[in-house]
Amino acid sequence: HRRLRVALLGAGAVGSQVAALLLKHADELADRAGASLELVGIAVRDLDAPRETDLPRELFTTDAESLIVGADIVIELMGGIEPAKTYLLQAINSGADAVTANKALLATHGPEIFDAADQVGAQVYYEAAAAGAIPIIRPLRDSLAGDRVRRIMGIVNGTTNYILDRMDTEGADFADVLAQAQALGYAESDPTADVEGYDAAQKAAILASLAFHTTVPLDAVHREGITSIDKATIDSARHAGYVIKLLAVCERLDAEPGVDGQESISVRVYPALIHRNHPLASVHGANNAVFVEAEAAGNLMFYGAGAGGVQTASAVLGDVVSAARRHIAGGVGVAESTRANLPIVPIGHVTTRY
Ligand code: NDP
Ligand code: HSE
Repeated sequence: HRRLRVALLGAGAVGSQVAALLLKHADELADRAGASLELVGIAVRDLDAPRETDLPRELFTTDAESLIVGADIVIELMGGIEPAKTYLLQAINSGADAVTANKALLATHGPEIFDAADQVGAQVYYEAAAAGAIPIIRPLRDSLAGDRVRRIMGIVNGTTNYILDRMDTEGADFADVLAQAQALGYAESDPTADVEGYDAAQKAAILASLAFHTTVPLDAVHREGITSIDKATIDSARHAGYVIKLLAVCERLDAEPGVDGQESISVRVYPALIHRNHPLASVHGANNAVFVEAEAAGNLMFYGAGAGGVQTASAVLGDVVSAARRHIAGGVGVAESTRANLPIVPIGHVTTRY
């Protein structure tokens, strides 16, 4: 096999699992990728921090920049905007393909990053940036590229679903379950991103951009979190036959007559009442579920682990195999299709009960 040099930035909840699986399944991955994937190093902040998986100490470095030099594939799992953005652009500009799970970065600087990749014929893979282990980026970008998506609706944040579910089923306390979600590796390093709906809004912006072939800026996404939801609200919903879920809804709105016949879209995140018979009511724990309504395909449903280190590592490694295959085939980048420029209507709750 040809050898490809893989640099990993970050060894937290997700990165430590990615590194362990890359080493454990090296032979199998090499067969699938058509190249051996040599993990050349892992950049972290603290060399002495405990890791969730047993990894060779000599792989660790605090010098991310040097690690990127000469890498064929760079996996960014540090999170946050900087220095992740600088490192990702450095990787792309040095000819590497990039894999990232960083929805915060893509939802705010996606066009700049995709443009940089297009300029040099590199590719950015980000299957793990929305809904954890669930394949949803490729289905929207590739499998449904010949269809017209009308609507995406679902639960795209594992932490808030875990919190709301435990509050509903066990009467658990918000702060206690949030601490457990953090300990289980579901939450963002600043969990405000989860509970205030920023993480779900970032994912909604990414999904809507792909589904509607446009660029949805984060500030165009209507966002509400779950911090105002207390036990009393959850109990009264239960007594009425409902459960509360943080929903992300992205949809095409019918063109208003007189607005040049142009369509617009709405992207919004808010807690909604879901009837106990609705399929979304049985999404428990840190699972996610995404419904996609497309004109020709009809209704599609995607379900599975929305957060968690090893689960998310599956999506990251799928991207690494794709990057390796493209790399050895000498392929050119597939440009992100954002040709349309659809107006985004800033509406909040349209339907609060499902
Ligand atoms: P963690 O906070 O657990 O890990 C972050 C890692 O990055 C740590 O190893 C940290 O080093 C390293 N790091 C952070 N800043 C720097 C820096 N400036 N220089 C070098 N290393 C740095 O994050 P997660 O693994 O949970 O998440 C990683 C990414 O994946 C994020 O973008 C997140 O949004 C996304 N994601 C996470 C999911 C999850 O379930 N956790 C699911 C889907 C996506 P050190 O350990 O030394 O502090
Ligand atoms: N913090 C995120 C969540 C991780 O809970 O869904 C997965 O993107």
